[in-house]
Amino acid sequence: TGKPVTAPSVQASKNGDKICCMTAYDYSSGLIADAAGMDVVLVGDSLAMVVLGHEDTLSVTVDEMIHHVRATSRGVKRALLVADMPFMSFCTVDKALHNGGRLISEGGARAVKLEGGVAVVPQIEALTQAGIPVMAHVGLTPQHVARFGGFKAQGKSAEATKALLEDAQAVEEAGAFCVVLEAIPVEAAQLITEAIDIPTIGIGAGNVTDGQVLVYHDVLGLFDRFTPKFVRQYASQGEEGIKALEQYCKDVRSGWFPAEKNTIYMPDDQMEQVRK
Ligand code: KIV
Ligand code: NA
Repeated sequence: TGKPVTAPSVQASKNGDKICCMTAYDYSSGLIADAAGMDVVLVGDSLAMVVLGHEDTLSVTVDEMIHHVRATSRGVKRALLVADMPFMSFCTVDKALHNGGRLISEGGARAVKLEGGVAVVPQIEALTQAGIPVMAHVGLTPQHVARFGGFKAQGKSAEATKALLEDAQAVEEAGAFCVVLEAIPVEAAQLITEAIDIPTIGIGAGNVTDGQVLVYHDVLGLFDRFTPKFVRQYASQGEEGIKALEQYCKDVRSGWFPAEKNTIYMPDDQMEQVRK
């Protein structure tokens, strides 16, 4: 179906078809994700790790995000383009409005995502009221890696699951059009998915959510510094890429590349004139 996906159409697909979401970070990955039929393409701050090579997501800036969102927007025609709000870019309502506005007006995103539950209700309300659809994100929120002491699953106790449910209900109440649930037990994901009327999009939350999201580089085998349990790798493009480039080096060194068909020739009469 060629109809563009919108935040309201995603919200309306609760209990409908599963929502397919994938990250992308530039024109070519955006094109590929869109061509594959993705409903939502997220320019995640995971780009700090998989594209920029940082240890975690904390060091990517709003300007860097905008640079990547703009490139991705040129490749994404049908999917809903969502931009992650980076660490500390939404710690006040004013900052959230300023930086969220930039991701939309300068970056070309159609919605933003921000991490947090009860704590970011004022930001979600303000952005929504300003006309910016918000995707919320609770559970393992990687921007809190220092506080969590690592990338650890969340919501594994009764108490933690109750807090998670409160977070999910709070972001719904605040106006979020959907919510990402990251690295939580499937039982907690089920409870939350049944308790709220906006779609849940899981990553490491089992098969009970209204949609799924994964990181492009994880799915295609382009990033193997570590692979979480919840990833399914559908290709080995990193390995294939190395093999292809090794062959290129061999061919250059042996003179087999470039071949005749890769070579530009001058018209015969021209070359005769040069020799005169
Ligand atoms: O940054 C990211 O890639 C994300 C998704 C994994 C949800 O936040
Ligand atoms: Na993110």
